[in-house]
Amino acid sequence: MYPLRRNRRLRTNEAIRSLVRETIITPNDFLVPLFVVEGQGIKDEIPSMPNYYRYSLDLLENEIKELWNLGLKSVLLFVKVPDNLKDNKGAEALNPNGLMQRAIKTVKSVCPDMLVMTDVALDPYSAYGHDGIIENGQIVNDKTSHFLAEMSISHAQAGADFVAPSDMMDGRILTIREALEDEGFTNTGIMSYSAKYASSFYGPFRDALDSAPVDLQDIPKDKKTYQMDYGNRIEAIRETEMDIDEGADIVMVKPGLCYLDIVRDIKNAVDVPVAVYQVSGEYAMIKAASEKGWLDHDAVMMEQITAIKRAGGDIIASYFAKDVVKLLNG
Ligand code: PBG
Repeated sequence: MYPLRRNRRLRTNEAIRSLVRETIITPNDFLVPLFVVEGQGIKDEIPSMPNYYRYSLDLLENEIKELWNLGLKSVLLFVKVPDNLKDNKGAEALNPNGLMQRAIKTVKSVCPDMLVMTDVALDPYSAYGHDGIIENGQIVNDKTSHFLAEMSISHAQAGADFVAPSDMMDGRILTIREALEDEGFTNTGIMSYSAKYASSFYGPFRDALDSAPVDLQDIPKDKKTYQMDYGNRIEAIRETEMDIDEGADIVMVKPGLCYLDIVRDIKNAVDVPVAVYQVSGEYAMIKAASEKGWLDHDAVMMEQITAIKRAGGDIIASYFAKDVVKLLNG
């Protein structure tokens, strides 16, 4: 006789499949990345990210309302900084009236309950496209950390709920946490990009912000001296545990799909929420293949998002957030 367990019984129809499904996607899973630019009336499609846009602050207002009405309650802000405001030190990042600071206030003014997280990194402000200050042919670590702490204070002053350092300097979480405490921002959260790999999947994002590293004589054009080597697994756990010890409230693995083994390792190792960033290149691949008719856009999107959550992603930063929620809402 055949064994008494027949696993196909639980797959007979959609009713039983949905009854026993382990991983369910809801709007609460998402953090929505948003690109902001100077100007008026701008909704500019990013060429390598079809159907994804940079917004000027006036049009950002509508987008925020739309997200909120869809049940998307958290955003992650990025700014595209005009070239003439870029330098080696990120001076513009500390401008209390800078684009990021105004963007935070704009979101809070149209939707006070929207959770605002901000990207904390030098690269959009760097004339060289690097996440650190450059001195004598080096990306200098501790000076950069102190700058990131100042940037975090500036974002907190403008009303950010969480700062999200995406740079991978050593010790910056502690430096930021101490600075926030010293300035009285005891309730400002830190979502650390704790296991961020030196990935080639960030290309479209760097197009969106015009933030790619430039040719320099003494500094490599990649970010491999600070972002992690993609051959490494154990190091991701060490990086993440250190960030938690230094005061991170949420940790992150980035990119997503190629790193789901890391997501699971970290989920099993830590007791804080784990975020996963499904990055721009992952978005672009699905868009391009589905435009060609080679893949079913919605089906592949849902499969990848579900895989990220199944692997252990408690929070998913994704350019698909709106598409997913619209699909869920039917
Ligand atoms: C910058 C930053 C990057 C991303 C988020 N913050 C790019 C980089 O590190 O070069 C990538 C996001 C994406 O590709 O969607 N610190």
